[in-house]
Order: sequence, then structure tokens, then C-alpha cells
Amino acid sequence: MTPLDPVEELGIEREALPRHIAIVMDGNGRWARQRGLPRLDGHREGAKSVRATVTHCARLGIEYLTLYAFSLENWKRPKMEVAGLMALYAEYLIKERDEIMENGIRVLHLGSRERLPDAVLRELDVTLEMCKDNKGLTVSLALNYASRAEIVEAVRCLARRVQAGELQPDEIDEAAVSNSLWSAGVPDPDLVIRTAGEMRLSNFLLWQISYAELCVVPTFWPDFRPEHLNGAIIEFAKRERRFGDVGPVAAQVTDSPG
Ligand code: IPE
Ligand code: IPE
Ligand code: MG
Repeated sequence: MTPLDPVEELGIEREALPRHIAIVMDGNGRWARQRGLPRLDGHREGAKSVRATVTHCARLGIEYLTLYAFSLENWKRPKMEVAGLMALYAEYLIKERDEIMENGIRVLHLGSRERLPDAVLRELDVTLEMCKDNKGLTVSLALNYASRAEIVEAVRCLARRVQAGELQPDEIDEAAVSNSLWSAGVPDPDLVIRTAGEMRLSNFLLWQISYAELCVVPTFWPDFRPEHLNGAIIEFAKRERRFGDVGPVAAQVTDSPG
């Protein structure tokens, strides 16, 4: 018996899959607290969910996955937690290299390099360089990321080009802004998932998710597994995306003569 196509198993058409999924991986601290463990144990356990999610997206044939791993605002956290997280990112970037290459995954860094420890930058650069020609799933690691800072940078970059006489102010359109963001070259997300129940965006991809479908799940990130991702994808497939238009059913009614 030939194994079922993993997309068929979801009971949806391949065309109904989101091309780009972005995830706010939240709830590591609460997961740990529930068990009387230090917060860092929650982050450590969360790394397993990252692996499971990345592998599952690759298997489904999703093209782009963006993972919110550390925000610029997260520097406000206790020094010990931040140091532990940084050590974990460096460790993850080393440990996952085989898995990344076996699955043909391309990793991109989304965010600022400022303040990131040398050890993280070094491992990040090795991983980015190693997988840059891979043709499978593109994983954007939002590490040291904040959407407003990204937009400020884009505005500065455009202003400099105007100042240099390379660009006229009237030539600045939506594409020019998109192409000046750190996420340039990656299409906008279709589906945003936030784990652990919080109904907010926390400075994540504010420009890029103008028309994304949102899905907030109660599951804490360390408990997030392929079945939860499948649930969000199935829900996404049922949504009617209108982009400001009236939608296919209403259009039929309105356009029918008489
Ligand atoms: C998300 O989990 C991980 C990071 C922000 C780095 P949290 O650490 O925010 O977990 P909660 O929200 O405290 O449960
Ligand atoms: C968002 O989670 C950032 C990441 C998941 C990396 P936070 O836990 O930092 O968000 P807030 O503080 O609850 O808004
Ligand atoms: Mg949180």
C-alpha cells in the first residue's frame, strides 16, 4: 500500500495550503511553571517543538515558515534567562545542521545582529552559509526581531536612497517598502499562529501580515506538535479570504442578472 500524501491526510487540496506560515512561539515559561521547573526548561523543551514543526512543514511541502524566537523587547527579561536563551540558540544552530541539510531546508535570519553575542552570530553565519543553496522549505528565524524597528530601518534606507538621488519620493510604493524590510524576498505570511492563547501580535511582522489569517491556539509552545499545526492548517483552509472584495458567493448573487 502506498503511503498517503500527507496533505491528502488532512483532507484538503494542496492549493488550500498556506504558502507561508508564521508562528509566535509563546508559553514556554507557563509550561515550565505548571511543572514547577525553571523557565529555561520550558525554552529547552520548546526547541523540540521547533524541530517537529520544521520537519512537518517540510513534509507537507509548505514553502515558507517564520518562527518568532526572540524579540528586541525580550532583552528586558532577567539576565539569566536571556543568557540561557542565547546559549540555547547557539546550541540549536549547531545541533540541527544535519536535520536542516537532510530536509533541504534553507534558513534565513530575520532581525537585527546588534547585541547578539558573538557565539550566536558565529553559529548563525555557519548555518546560513551551509544551507543557502537548499531548495526546500525556507525557515526565517526571527531572532532579535521587532517589527517597528524593521520598519524604521526600511524608512531610513529609503530616505538615504532619496537623498542620494537614486529614488524619487513618488517612486516609493508598497513594493519598495516591502523590498526594504529585513524580510525582503519572502512573500507575506498567509497564516499566523500564536500558541499559549494571547490575543496579541507583540510587534511581529506588522507590515507583512496585513491580510494574513490569524489562529490563536491555547497549547503552550513546548506541547505544540504536528497535530496542532494540522488543526490550524485545516482551519485556514476553511476560511474565506476576501482581501477587501465581497467574496465568491456574494459576487455570484450580486452579478447575476435580474
Ligand atoms: C516564548 O515563551 C519564548 C520567548 C519569548 C523567548 P515565553 O517565555 O514568553 O513564555 P510565557 O509567555 O512566559 O509563558
Ligand atoms: C512574543 O512573545 C515574542 C516571542 C515569541 C519571541 P512574548 O512572550 O515576548 O510576548 P508578550 O510580552 O507576552 O507580548
Ligand atoms: Mg510569552
